[in-house]
Amino acid sequence: MPSDPAASFDPAPDVARWLVGDAGLDVLADVVRELDGGTAELAVATRLRRDGLAPDRARIALDAAVARRRARARFPDADALVLTTSALEQSSHPAASAARAARYADAASTTDLCSGIGGDALAIAARGPTVVAVDRDAARMTLLEHNARVRGLDVTAVVADVLAYPVPAGSPVHADPGRRAAGRRLRRLSELHPPVPSLLAHVAPAPGVGVALSPAVDLADPALPAAAELEFLQLGPQLLEASLWLGGLRHGSAVATATLLAADGAVRERRTRTAPPAELPVGEVGSVLLEPRAAAVRARLHDTLGEELGARRLARHRALLTADAHVPSPWFDAWQVEAVLPLRAKDIAAWLRSADVGPVELATHGLDADPVAWWRRIGRPPRGPAGTRVHLVRLDDGAVCLIGRPLD
Ligand SMILES: C[S@@+](CC[C@H](N)C(=O)[O-])C[C@H]1O[C@@H](n2cnc3c(N)ncnc32)[C@H](O)[C@@H]1O
Repeated sequence: MPSDPAASFDPAPDVARWLVGDAGLDVLADVVRELDGGTAELAVATRLRRDGLAPDRARIALDAAVARRRARARFPDADALVLTTSALEQSSHPAASAARAARYADAASTTDLCSGIGGDALAIAARGPTVVAVDRDAARMTLLEHNARVRGLDVTAVVADVLAYPVPAGSPVHADPGRRAAGRRLRRLSELHPPVPSLLAHVAPAPGVGVALSPAVDLADPALPAAAELEFLQLGPQLLEASLWLGGLRHGSAVATATLLAADGAVRERRTRTAPPAELPVGEVGSVLLEPRAAAVRARLHDTLGEELGARRLARHRALLTADAHVPSPWFDAWQVEAVLPLRAKDIAAWLRSADVGPVELATHGLDADPVAWWRRIGRPPRGPAGTRVHLVRLDDGAVCLIGRPLD
């Protein structure tokens, strides 16, 4: 037993099969109960060993119990699912999966490649299509089959290298290639597992293709096909994921899309661009400061959305916009500009003292500045979320401090 009993690992296929059988499920439920009751993981591991459980079974039971408890924040039925911590970490956010799955709702069948424990495969099957899920990890496929049974969904799991799997020509494909190797995030699409260019070439006969990608995907990545839509999915303040859409799953001639989601994956707001991005002119600081949602910035839609509010840019290379009047929009956080100050700690500290604004938050825009060091330098004002925001902003020429009161 390792010193960290629940350190994440991938089980052997026979251990995964044991886990989803009656005996394994009983052990798993017991371990979850013990952890819920406050017993330490190490004590549970010792108890399992004392009970004579084989070390690999004890380890997977403990890992799956930790994963199940973590998954409660994501899945209402987590206590019926069997997951591992590493597969859960790689699994798509349920809101992103549900939003993506909506594009497959009209298909009779779908192939989900690199399906892991099935975050996307199960979400697609829940929309109606039968799903063939393919992954080379046999243990994950065993868990996926179990989870599909629990949810009463029609998913067939196939253990295979996706590049060797003959994808049916008539139905759309979803794929979620691995984005990590040896703990490192892989940035370039040609580095993913499998590489995106090989994946796209392999699935080319499919009538529509969707590929889950990191929201940090480089828009200039040479492996991004030209005739494709790149969608950025956001839930609250969190930029969840990106999706690449091709063929029949692409929305018309969309090039980039920003989508704001509800927690269940329903679309709250969606905007699409079919042409190169607009670019607003740069102008003076107005009475309102506008910070676009990350999805809008990544889809290069923030200028178009800002134009609708009568906004202008603060600087050529900043997404932060400014306007002379407040027009509420779901695409922007807005602040009433209370002060425009030079980027000097003593001036900012003096203004905060005299204005007595209550809790403040610090935000930096394009500056290589440590907010905690700045907070100290401006006299350690009381900190608090949703308070007055001290924006330290790099402009095209110099830098400025803009102090703003949040607007609804
Ligand atoms: C990001 S995870 C998928 C997560 C999944 N969409 C979910 O939401 O649960 C990527 C998966 O790709 C699989 N994978 C990577 N390369 C593969 C290949 N060449 N063939 C089959 N599966 C592969 C890994 O085993 C891993 O389970």
